[in-house]
Amino acid sequence: MSREQRDYFLRQQLRAIQDELGEKTPEKAEVDSLRDRLNEADLPESVRKEAERDLNRLERLPAQAPDYQVTRTYLELVLELPWKKRTPDLLDLNHARDVLNEDHFGLTEIKERILEHLAVLKLNPNAKAPILCFVGPPGVGKTSLGQSIARALGRKFERFSLGGLHDESELRGHRRTYIGAMPGRIIQAIRRAGVNNPLMMLDEIDKLGRDHRGDPAAALLEILDPAQNNTFRDNYLDQPFDLSQVFFVCTANTLDTLPRPLLDRMEVLRLSGYSEEEKLQIALRYLLPRTRKDAGLTPEQVQVTDEALRLLITGYTREAGCRQLDRYLQRLMRKLALKFTEDPTATVIITPEKVTELLGSRPFIPDEVRKDVPPGVATGLAWTEAGGEVLYVEASLVPNTRRMEITGQLGDVMKESAKAAQSYVLSHARELGINAKRLKKFGVHIHVPAGAVPKDGPSAGVALITALTSLYSDKPARSDTAMTGEITLTGLVLPIGGVKEKVLAARRAGITRVILPKANEKDLRDLPDSIRGSMEFIFADRVAQVISAALPS
Ligand SMILES: Nc1ncnc2c1ncn2[C@@H]1O[C@H](COP(=O)(O)OP(=O)(O)O)[C@@H](O)[C@H]1O
Ligand SMILES: [Mg+2]
Repeated sequence: MSREQRDYFLRQQLRAIQDELGEKTPEKAEVDSLRDRLNEADLPESVRKEAERDLNRLERLPAQAPDYQVTRTYLELVLELPWKKRTPDLLDLNHARDVLNEDHFGLTEIKERILEHLAVLKLNPNAKAPILCFVGPPGVGKTSLGQSIARALGRKFERFSLGGLHDESELRGHRRTYIGAMPGRIIQAIRRAGVNNPLMMLDEIDKLGRDHRGDPAAALLEILDPAQNNTFRDNYLDQPFDLSQVFFVCTANTLDTLPRPLLDRMEVLRLSGYSEEEKLQIALRYLLPRTRKDAGLTPEQVQVTDEALRLLITGYTREAGCRQLDRYLQRLMRKLALKFTEDPTATVIITPEKVTELLGSRPFIPDEVRKDVPPGVATGLAWTEAGGEVLYVEASLVPNTRRMEITGQLGDVMKESAKAAQSYVLSHARELGINAKRLKKFGVHIHVPAGAVPKDGPSAGVALITALTSLYSDKPARSDTAMTGEITLTGLVLPIGGVKEKVLAARRAGITRVILPKANEKDLRDLPDSIRGSMEFIFADRVAQVISAALPS
């Protein structure tokens, strides 16, 4: 006999003896307890059959066999998964409205849209839960809105980020035959939730990667498809699991990188950045009370003046949302907590001076806007995933060449936009009051700082034309005026996206006049009244109107 055969033989004898004596081996006890749990568990028939087969196999395996652990871990998962367990929905719309308002300032339209979805669930309990997708810059409340919906509905909340996820099997799991195989994130989240109808938040779906290990977006498509997801198959679990009761909420900073079919499955709700006034209200009503409480302080001990909050908003943060602001408030409270452990009876009023004392001097100077700009510079507005941004377009003449040079990490669309601007300016030199001699003698260099940040998109067209016109005519553009719009070779100004974010960015930078495409006039509706009333807007559908507003001389 070989050694293994001998071991096996002896072990069988040992088992027989233990059985005879009525003693249980630890493995036997384990198998028995699994069997008890299996008999009690509420499983779909097909799953139960499969599990019984696995359990019988487990019974025959020696505990040392590698398969023993694998099969046991698998059975544990099958028994723990909430195949039929769910929480009842709390479908009281007044309660839901209260919860949403309790947790978030403003966002009226978004809240209404959410309530509409809940109303449908209430009227038709068999309706498929909607798949919502919140899109907007960081810190505008996407994640926390998801938590609120879960709280309003009385559902469990589970969240995970898809950022940087390359591997399809992260979502779908590895087949059990692989060493160290695990279920995918979806099944793991369901297991954590303990019910099959949690609100599952898939954060940052726009940051989903893809490479040779498979395309996670394809897996996501199946997960989010109401026609398929009642039989979702995880490679590890290898049994269909019903995801149709899950309330999926996705978040993204931008929709540009999302595959179209994925987008079609979701109901997109857009959130934009907040104005200074809105941030002040959010800080006063939500962030301040929360951070104060988290630090163990009371309103009697610490008060913060509106001016101090305003300083935090304009001098310490530069963002579309409230994340940085929240962080600074937390830091302030921590510093004060230290003080109060020494003297609990003290009271502190945080003034702007106190803010500077505690946090150091402000990192941002409010008037970032350039005071005087030389000829050849125009103020543009860009839209990024992080919100709006002011961006300067600089052009200068280069002697001994006729070439056009473009720098500042511009994408193809923006480069073409620059060429179109150049052609327009050259062909309309006379009307624009440009010295033709200068045109002939020099080449031009266009640069868009910050040079290390990639930029693209057609919306800088009007700023490019303004910069070139200003350069060739040697007249400076107005520095209090920012502009955005796409241009055509024939001098039309076409509409662009992200108007609210761009105007808010201009306002943050201290700009008071904004030139917008005529067709974007309707978008001003989205702006708070305080901004609409205090800034001047010029609407243009032709390049000539832009030039006369930006270069009055
Ligand atoms: N409208 C709002 N009302 C109250 N708090 C808000 C609002 N918008 C954002 N916040 C707060 O700002 C912080 C960042 O929000 P978060 O949900 O993490 O943003 P996102 O997921 O969009 O990046 C949270 O503390 C959140 O509660
Ligand atoms: Mg988030």
